[in-house]
Amino acid sequence: MRIRSSRGATDVLVERGALDALGTALPARIPGFSSTPVLVHDAASPKGLVARALRGLERDGLEPSAVALDLRGGKTLAQAEALCHALLERDCDRTAVLIALGGGAVSDLTGFVAAIYLRGVRYVNVPTTLLAQIDASIGGKTGVDLPEGKNLVGAFWPPTVVVVDPDVLTGLPATEWSSGFGEVAKYAVLAEDLLALLEATTSSPTNDPALLDQILAMCVRTKVRYVEADEFDRGVRRALNLGHTIGHALEAATGFALLRHGEAVALGLRAEAHLSRALGFASSEFEQRVVRLLRRLGLRTTIPALDVDRVLAFARHDKKREGDAIRFALPVAPGETRMVDVAELGRIADAVRSLFESA
Ligand SMILES: NC(=O)c1ccc[n+]([C@@H]2O[C@H](COP(=O)([O-])OP(=O)(O)OC[C@H]3O[C@@H](n4cnc5c(N)ncnc54)[C@H](O)[C@@H]3O)[C@@H](O)[C@H]2O)c1
Ligand SMILES: [Zn+2]
Repeated sequence: MRIRSSRGATDVLVERGALDALGTALPARIPGFSSTPVLVHDAASPKGLVARALRGLERDGLEPSAVALDLRGGKTLAQAEALCHALLERDCDRTAVLIALGGGAVSDLTGFVAAIYLRGVRYVNVPTTLLAQIDASIGGKTGVDLPEGKNLVGAFWPPTVVVVDPDVLTGLPATEWSSGFGEVAKYAVLAEDLLALLEATTSSPTNDPALLDQILAMCVRTKVRYVEADEFDRGVRRALNLGHTIGHALEAATGFALLRHGEAVALGLRAEAHLSRALGFASSEFEQRVVRLLRRLGLRTTIPALDVDRVLAFARHDKKREGDAIRFALPVAPGETRMVDVAELGRIADAVRSLFESA
């Protein structure tokens, strides 16, 4: 798949075994590919993946070097600066190519450094979590967190190539699978064919490689479609915020400790389907369909009761805020969403409460 943007094109490859063939795949797609690419990875990510990527590059005569990021404190400006120093140490000039190997934290940070180092160098994403493969690695949003909040500093800087190798997901911890499945559920609400596939299947994507490949391709295609239609996230792409207004607020209200991002998105999807039905947009049949989908994907659909006012306060501080109303991308029907500013906070509170275990 190819995404055309104001900064050129991004090729997105979905292929098993691609991790071992980076040395042929990348130079074939990137004119003037550096003979000394810099592989940036999470110090905590599986060593085997880093070794395979390096071998795949060396086999084709390239001389890669590796930089390990310490992301235990999240993606920070300090880590971005450390990466800049590592690039200077290697005499990287404007022809440099960075290769981000890892989850969304690695691609967000590496992409951000690619945007600012020498006012911009090229980079490639090789995502290794489900969430990064279907979401974070595609679309050109890069950045780091500040102590005050997530993704507060960043740039639109699309990668030149994204290499999605489903094989690298073997060994992904269960919580990371769930986190990715939360975003899969979001795409299923946006893409009717994916919803139908997930409803019809009797096997689990974690042990059915053919099914997983199909799901990955459909999710990636959906993301590509929205990104290409709205490069800078000012219009139709906001549909990708489905489940995120309440999802983000739940993450923040629970101190980013209880829920992985995609798990919060799944809960957000359920609450927003409830809200959409309460406001008369979605049918109760569709709301039930969303809940069944989340269960099929093994996602939690309830949480212990928490302070609703706190959740609403975080939702109000969400970037999507407009005046006093809270802006939502609400699920309406398969493949259909609606941007709505909801001023009736009581309705939103009810939707959050519908998630509580005792509800
Ligand atoms: N730019 C975007 O459009 C966008 C979209 C969504 C999320 N994000 C960002 O992505 C980040 C979250 O990404 P994530 O969910 O991938 O989490 P992550 O990058 O924090 O990775 C999660 C964990 O999985 C480990 N890991 C990675 N690959 C593995 C593998 N193959 N096997 C075993 N362990 C592996 C990592 O070492 C890490 O500990 C957040 O910073 C979020 O803001 C960005
Ligand atoms: Zn998300």
